[in-house]
Amino acid sequence: MCGIIGYVGSKDLVSVLLNGLKRLEYRGYDSAGMAIKTNLGITLLKSEGKITNLESIIKEQNLAGLDGNIGIAHTRWATHGKPTTINAHPHSAGSISLVHNGIIENYQELRIILEEEGFKFKSDTDSEVLAHLINKFYNGNLPQAVEKALNEVEGTYGAAVISKEDNMIVGAKKGSPLILGIGSGEHFLASSEIPIRDHTRRIISLKDGDIITITKDKYNIVSLGQRQEREIETIEWDTEALEKKGYKHFMLKEIHTQPETLTETLRGRIEPNKKNIHLGGFDNLPGEYFEQLNRIILLGCGTSWHACKVGKYLFEKTLRIPVAAEYASEFRYQNPVVNPGDMVMAVSQSGDTADTLAALQEGIRRGGVPFGMVNVVGSQIAREADKGIYLHAGPEIGVASTKAFTSQVLAFNLLNLYLGIIRNKISDEEAQDMIVAIESIPSKVREALLLENEIKAVAEEYCNHSNFLYLGRGLNFPVALEGALKLKEISYIHAEGYPAAEMKHGPIALIDNNMPSVFVATEMNSSCSKIISNMEQVRSRNGKIIAITTEDYSSQIGPLADHTIYVPNVQEYLSPIVNVIPLQLLAYHIADMKGLDVDKPRNLAKSVTVE
Ligand code: M6R
Repeated sequence: MCGIIGYVGSKDLVSVLLNGLKRLEYRGYDSAGMAIKTNLGITLLKSEGKITNLESIIKEQNLAGLDGNIGIAHTRWATHGKPTTINAHPHSAGSISLVHNGIIENYQELRIILEEEGFKFKSDTDSEVLAHLINKFYNGNLPQAVEKALNEVEGTYGAAVISKEDNMIVGAKKGSPLILGIGSGEHFLASSEIPIRDHTRRIISLKDGDIITITKDKYNIVSLGQRQEREIETIEWDTEALEKKGYKHFMLKEIHTQPETLTETLRGRIEPNKKNIHLGGFDNLPGEYFEQLNRIILLGCGTSWHACKVGKYLFEKTLRIPVAAEYASEFRYQNPVVNPGDMVMAVSQSGDTADTLAALQEGIRRGGVPFGMVNVVGSQIAREADKGIYLHAGPEIGVASTKAFTSQVLAFNLLNLYLGIIRNKISDEEAQDMIVAIESIPSKVREALLLENEIKAVAEEYCNHSNFLYLGRGLNFPVALEGALKLKEISYIHAEGYPAAEMKHGPIALIDNNMPSVFVATEMNSSCSKIISNMEQVRSRNGKIIAITTEDYSSQIGPLADHTIYVPNVQEYLSPIVNVIPLQLLAYHIADMKGLDVDKPRNLAKSVTVE
């Protein structure tokens, strides 16, 4: 994780870097710092904690408007070394200053060697090793020193380096993202295009092995000693998506804009005859591939893994082929079985999650055909997969994923239909019915959002509880997992998601009047009586019940639950999209009532770009 930004140009350097860091804060917020080069040398500024602390230091020192035109900055998510000022980046050695995102795996060995050679370390970080190595090899040629230093290290990096002597920034990428922004008389390097968008829409996403040099007027990309020509891409998202637009938090905005983001996920994907689905990202494979496909492996982490579990349920029911939904973080260490030709799909909002990227690469290595389901266009997973489906949900800034999940589930519905039609598992009439249901989803979500005041009242009653259980069956089990994850990550309340029927095999021991159970109970045609029994089991142990259900079940569930939230009725496969809305709102309001930093919960970062 961590976010880096570098700038060469004639704008106010401190503001460009500071605003860039604010845009990057979703990548980590343990500490922050910047190195600015002026005719007086390099000034280093660092602080513990959020970017606002660094901003105060800058204000105290009256540095805004300082006459510099080259600088690098960093916001940290601690991996090696505590989140202290001393461990904050940039790290300096001799005339070198460096910001680094990634992990230098052999840093301990290198540190011992460098210390024996007389280099003095100030921090506990792995990154400082890289600064010393570059300094060791620096003899007036900065790109060459960076290249030589990188030859010594094992691990991942997106790095930016300056020196007192050179009017340039040297960047390098391997395993962590690094984007070049091309402006007029200015260039940027950053961990994502988000901070660059404020200045230019022209970017190049660097590739692993690239070393780049930027000055005010030029850039030069070299890989394996060869100069590279790369196509310039144009960023499409507008910067409005990066503002809160009157909402108290990004998370709340992202919850409320789901009718629009779901509409974007659908745009251009339903054929005018409403009998077919158009997925441009699948065009480059022959139809026979999908006809003959006999196994699908879905890979994701956190919320994206929950979406994979929904995808598995849909695909297995419709396509009748085995589907695995695997934790990407476990996949490559379990000697996975991948048959040649298996569809291996990496599901990720950011497209930068290191575990998911590595799992996809493992799938490819074992003969699988790679696909991506990604929100961030041009991200590492999107590039690696080359085929797949973009969510088009717009930038998700809140650390807790919300709109990405609903778009992922919708994208799985589109894909299920697409594959079902190709494999003759879905008739024209069924396709039309499903498409009508899919098209109604944005308005159903709008209806579900009207439940907010009811949910706020529930949040008020329960915000001081320390434990919650979330229960659901079938498709509602991943929704229960997602509800529990939302609550724990932003409110720091312990919450567990469980299949409702599994509760009696253990977690039931936890039930008392201090342990509320949130039942997600909408799809119960065959299991209605079972879930009702699960509720009875909770009630008879004095447990409180918050039920998410539909009016269809009001007579059975109403009398059992302490609080009943009625969500709109939708077709079964789409129900996770509607059912998760009250759970997102419940977690949000509980965290907000507790006065917590909803968008930047402690210890977390938006993109987990380290393993
Ligand atoms: O960007 P990704 O979808 O790959 O991220 C995966 C997880 O890190 C992410 O979903 C995480 O669990 C969120 N904080 C959940 O809200």
